[in-house]
Amino acid sequence: MTTAMTYAEFAAREAAGESPAYEQLATAVSHDARLLARLDTLPAAKRQPNLIFAVVQFLGGPVTDPAAFLEFTAANWSVVEEHIRARATQTNEPARCALLLPVLATLPQPLALLEVGASAGLNLFPDRYAYRYGEHRIGDGEPVLDCTLTGAAPPDRVPEVAWRAGLDLNPLDVTDPADARWLQALIWPEQEHRRARLRAAARVAAADPPHLVRGDLVDDLPALAAQAPAGATLVVFHTSVLYQVPAARRQAFIDLVRGLPAHWIAVENPSVIAHDNLPNPPGETLHNVLSLDGKPLAWARAHGDALTWFG
Ligand SMILES: C[S@@+](CC[C@H](N)C(=O)[O-])C[C@H]1O[C@@H](n2cnc3c(N)ncnc32)[C@H](O)[C@@H]1O
Repeated sequence: MTTAMTYAEFAAREAAGESPAYEQLATAVSHDARLLARLDTLPAAKRQPNLIFAVVQFLGGPVTDPAAFLEFTAANWSVVEEHIRARATQTNEPARCALLLPVLATLPQPLALLEVGASAGLNLFPDRYAYRYGEHRIGDGEPVLDCTLTGAAPPDRVPEVAWRAGLDLNPLDVTDPADARWLQALIWPEQEHRRARLRAAARVAAADPPHLVRGDLVDDLPALAAQAPAGATLVVFHTSVLYQVPAARRQAFIDLVRGLPAHWIAVENPSVIAHDNLPNPPGETLHNVLSLDGKPLAWARAHGDALTWFG
């Protein structure tokens, strides 16, 4: 896929209906030969829309006016490029806990949670947040996570968590001002509710910092898994991570996690974990697949606001 196509597809499938500003920005980039040529000098993983848009937000540049955005990136390319090369998309979306909860609640409690690709570890606190599945409310913390659940009964409890740990190539620290600003910059312009949610979840993590280990999800998973306490159900999970991992390493991870004495929950794009006989997704926009121990269960909206169980 060319870079122009990547931006056009992002506009149509990811930003449409979620962020008119990013839809327009991505469409504008898909037609701008100069910026496309500059993006093509970067490694493939650094060309993605979310990364340059977040960098421009981080630098205080314009992200709601396509002409101003193109002018800013042209005038400031060297600093934009430097930040693109130094940073990665590490969007940490605590609302994805609302996708995990229906599965976590069915497992033998207490749980030992091990998240790979944890970013700042905000999804390691599913027991501390509150949830609203339509009229059904669970938990009493903050943030309150809204999720439209179709085709299954909502969970009736938050999990009991005996241990939690995360693994990431570059763990972020919500108490570090630059990391906190980067996490905010990764949120799309109109999504003030997501900024507020991030702030609320960051307060939870700051009050009880999660154990985050710098490492790779293949090389360093066994050692961290071995630290989980006996007597708790070990759950290895990841949400929106494997698209960042090369295909051969993805398979190595899947083979590894299947061999661990653990349950495995994934919320990933079907293009990165293949499943047979998936039903059609409930809409045109991007949907990930929620799976337990390799068995696909439901379509999940990327930012955690809807879960459609397979019939
Ligand atoms: C898009 S973020 C998602 C963060 C979090 N899972 C969430 O859903 O909010 C992907 C994370 O995966 C991490 N990551 C990518 N490749 C990795 C690898 N090989 N080993 C460990 N972490 C990795 C990145 O550093 C990044 O923090």
